[in-house]
Amino acid sequence: MSVLATLDRYLQQSQPDHLEQLKHWLRIPSVSAEPLCSGEVRKSAQWVANALRGQGFQCEMIETSGPPLVYAESPPVPGRPVALVYGHYDVQPPDPLDKWISPAFEPTERDGNLYARGATDDKGQVFTHVLGAAAWAGTAQSLPLQVKFLIEGEEEVGSSQLAATLPAIKDRLSADVIVISDSSQYGAGQPAITYGLRGIAYYELRLHGPKQDLHSGSFGGAVHNPAIALSRLISQMIDQQGRIQLPNFYDSVKPLAESEREMWRGLGFDDQQFANQLGVSGLQGEVGYSTLERRWARPTLDVNGLMGGYQGEGGKTIIPSWAAAKLSFRLVPNQSPEAVTVQLKQFLAEHAPVGLRVELIEMHGGSGVVVDPDSPYMAAASQAIADSFGKSPVLIREGGSIPIVARMVEATGADVLLLGWGLEDDGAHSPNEKFCIADFYRGIRASAHLWHYLAQVSS
Ligand code: BES
Ligand code: MN
Ligand code: MN
Repeated sequence: MSVLATLDRYLQQSQPDHLEQLKHWLRIPSVSAEPLCSGEVRKSAQWVANALRGQGFQCEMIETSGPPLVYAESPPVPGRPVALVYGHYDVQPPDPLDKWISPAFEPTERDGNLYARGATDDKGQVFTHVLGAAAWAGTAQSLPLQVKFLIEGEEEVGSSQLAATLPAIKDRLSADVIVISDSSQYGAGQPAITYGLRGIAYYELRLHGPKQDLHSGSFGGAVHNPAIALSRLISQMIDQQGRIQLPNFYDSVKPLAESEREMWRGLGFDDQQFANQLGVSGLQGEVGYSTLERRWARPTLDVNGLMGGYQGEGGKTIIPSWAAAKLSFRLVPNQSPEAVTVQLKQFLAEHAPVGLRVELIEMHGGSGVVVDPDSPYMAAASQAIADSFGKSPVLIREGGSIPIVARMVEATGADVLLLGWGLEDDGAHSPNEKFCIADFYRGIRASAHLWHYLAQVSS
């Protein structure tokens, strides 16, 4: 039997066991944003480290000032490329809890899907590569190239510990190609390879007013209300055309290539169906761009949270002493989060209302990435996906961010393969997150085949 057919038969038989293993990992509530979960975050690291060790990989925990990095590798194969799988073992908070049909950390099968926080983002997806690489040992064959793993526990909060540790471990991470499954297919039945991600720049903006909350009857009208001032400041940051108003914001933005716009038009994206899927009656965005262009290749501003004033039941008549917003900008090539910080500070200096103190907290940032869709690694991945999903992948970009990717590319000079097995309606970061079980199996098979095809690329 051929190498690939042997792998296929082994993987077919292993499916029930693979699903049970994933469920064990999903039961660990590794919420990186929640300090009370730090023990569980570490347990999640240990779980995947044990899984890697159990499959015969050389594995170690690299300690940081935060959650540990899990690093593993198979033996070097001289003359063949080296692949580095990157993924994350942390998850987003599960709230709102009352919106989950089955509990977030009790993985449950329903309608061919596995429901749990982390099912698709990213435990289910990164596990496909652990199992896809392990299938080689499982069929008494050695991997045809060296596969390394780096699985971190802070992706969902900006990867600051990994960014700080990168210089010290970059030699160990040396690779020809970085493989990441932490995104989506184009749609059900249409697999995709993602060749671009947006970057991000994340802030908390606080406006401080009177030294304490004031009676809004006695004092209203005489001093700035920080909540009104904050609302105005935010609304001044973006105009009616959807253009961001920070000084020089668009100077470095790489315009879309006409060939790229053409290719995306060919994807047949349906605005009405998209609006229905999201439960909105209409769409909006930067004038002059299609929905896919707005999501994949144009910079945006979002308010992720607003705070300040009375939040309790009923009414309370006050001028709050402060108001704050969580703000994020999605960035495109060649924008940098550092440049956006400078622009935002300048904007605030020019627009700050008198009598209020402005405080800007820089939370995290990372540049976007766009990779060469014509690389031989892409062709190898395309073949592996076609084998397993029964259809050739289309090329897409994504609007989400994996902030460490640009830094890893810079540190290693490696190519990047973003092979998303998820679906857009998987509910990442939302209640009832799921992963299609058939896609979990297809992802494992595509991974097993990927090592075969990548090994044939001359490095
Ligand atoms: N898996 C996502 C990134 C992603 C989302 C890629 C959608 C492609 C499509 C990742 O876990 C994520 O959520 N990243 C955060 C980064 C942030 C917390 C720094 C994001 O994009 O908001
Ligand atoms: Mn993710
Ligand atoms: Mn995420």
